[in-house]
Amino acid sequence: MSIQFAYDIHQTWEENCARGPQFSEPCPAVPETPMKSFLGLPVRSRIGIAAGLLPNSRWILPYAQRGFDILTYKTVRSAAHPSYPLPNWVFVEESFPPGGPVFVTTTPPKDPGQISSAVCFGMPSFSPEYWREDVQRTRAGLRHGQLLVVSVVATSGETSSLAEIGDDFARCAAWAAEAGAHVVEANLSCPNVASAEGTLYQDASASRTVVGHIREALGDIPLLLKIGTFATTDALRTFLCTMDGLAKGVTLVNCIRRPIMHRDGRPAFGPQFSTAGVLGRAIHEPSVSIVRAVRKCIEADNLGLSIAAVGGASTVRDFADFFAAGADAVLCGSSPMYQPNLAIDAKHAHPEW
Ligand SMILES: Cc1cc2nc3c(=O)[nH]c(=O)nc-3n(C[C@H](O)[C@H](O)[C@H](O)COP(=O)(O)O)c2cc1C
Repeated sequence: MSIQFAYDIHQTWEENCARGPQFSEPCPAVPETPMKSFLGLPVRSRIGIAAGLLPNSRWILPYAQRGFDILTYKTVRSAAHPSYPLPNWVFVEESFPPGGPVFVTTTPPKDPGQISSAVCFGMPSFSPEYWREDVQRTRAGLRHGQLLVVSVVATSGETSSLAEIGDDFARCAAWAAEAGAHVVEANLSCPNVASAEGTLYQDASASRTVVGHIREALGDIPLLLKIGTFATTDALRTFLCTMDGLAKGVTLVNCIRRPIMHRDGRPAFGPQFSTAGVLGRAIHEPSVSIVRAVRKCIEADNLGLSIAAVGGASTVRDFADFFAAGADAVLCGSSPMYQPNLAIDAKHAHPEW
């Protein structure tokens, strides 16, 4: 049977948002699982979806119905922001040896657990008028034991000061909390934007200033920080130690930046994006290694941070890899687009997750 893709990569982001996910079959029964906790909040499972695939209630509620219990509302901003032109999402093939460019393919593997892809959306956002109301609608549609995480980002210009970036983050975070987010996630890491929005986490001291502003705006609501890869373990450790006490946890990794090309050498997302974020199978192993390194730092320095692991979780086995590496929760980025029943499969196999 051919794979049904819930998101149509040939349509714009705006068209997909309006259309909602397309599933080939009705929702199977979701196994009842015992309650656990994540970030001190009750959850039916520590399995969810990372910021990205779920831009509004039209997307979040059908996936919540399919047993994903930690649901992240795609990164929103303090003003409406359009998506980059198509293409925004392509399937890719790994190169050999892995680590160099990845190549666009129109025929992804038949085994959905083996799919890799790449995205370049530019962090589009609806207007705050829309998303603040829609977050309320989403929260009202979730069951007890399901968590709504709202991902936020500041919109910065070349001359924005850290205080201005912190204030804009804090404004979005406060709106998200007011609208009903159980948890707010600050996206400190988007590989596909050129400004400081994309690389903030790589500067621990700048992150401290910005995250301090967000923390003040949030009161008791838990804060997660979405981060990417670090050049050295020392840089990772410095970041984690600096954030301890300000945030409750880290969500990682936010894609891995690599050249995305057609076989004839043309960059897949146009000449201005020689690199972009790779997702799925190709990044699973490196993501598990990073999660293991984060767990080691947390234990070595006795930090009060939780880990929401992301990166190529596309099979039940991948979830197991992350939990074994020290994750407190596992979030899928791209795989629910072609495997909407993954949480159900995981709950059958591991009700304790
Ligand atoms: C369609 C799409 C859009 C994304 N947009 C965002 C975003 O707005 N903010 C963010 O923090 N991550 C975003 N991501 C990255 C995911 O949260 C996740 O880190 C990434 O997909 C890696 O996980 P995966 O290998 O399971 O796909 C996006 C991913 C996808 C598939």
